[in-house]
Amino acid sequence: MTKVPNQQSPVLTFSEPTQWVNQVSQKTIDIVKATAPILKKQGQQMTTRMYEIMLHNDPEVKQRFDMSAQADGSQPAKLATAVYSYAAHLDNPEALKSMIKRIAHRHVQTHVQPKQYPIVGESLLQAMKEVLGATATEDVMSAWAEAYQALACLFIETECLLYEEEKLGFQSLTKVDPD
Ligand code: HEM
Repeated sequence: MTKVPNQQSPVLTFSEPTQWVNQVSQKTIDIVKATAPILKKQGQQMTTRMYEIMLHNDPEVKQRFDMSAQADGSQPAKLATAVYSYAAHLDNPEALKSMIKRIAHRHVQTHVQPKQYPIVGESLLQAMKEVLGATATEDVMSAWAEAYQALACLFIETECLLYEEEKLGFQSLTKVDPD
């Protein structure tokens, strides 16, 4: 008899993105939220530049991306929306929950690894600095570095759980009773 593997792990659940507010200071929250209107306006310019920097600095990452999505601007647009939403709702994690889960699923589908977060973070911060110009003071940049770190940790944690769930699903499939 063929058993269908249990896709629902009783042990592993999505991490609840309600704790990161404790990881970032109030000063950071205030500064990052204040940059949200600029990021709404210039977000795509920033993320387009970010991809240029990242793909130039790390050609290996290029293989992971659908380059047609870069060319037609859809990937930078999606990333810009995510960065803006994060900035605007940094003090309201509940509002970001579904977005985080959707992106984490896409990351797992494309085999994103924790070690890649610093590469993306450095490129994003460099692009942000260029696009924000005079607004990119030292305080603004260190607030964004802290905020990015918190977001990266949240993605890494969520994605680790998804990878684990995937692994458990596969293991239970391999343990199917041959009857
Ligand atoms: C905090 C950092 C990050 C944010 C905010 C972010 C955001 C996003 C968003 C919004 C999408 C589109 C999801 C969709 O299609 O609905 C996406 C997809 C993707 N991300 Fe990230 N991401 C981050 C970090 C990373 C890292 C570290 C990597 C590693 C290289 C990565 C690789 C990818 C890939 C390969 C896709 C799929 C692109 C495609 O469909 O061609 N991301 N990400």
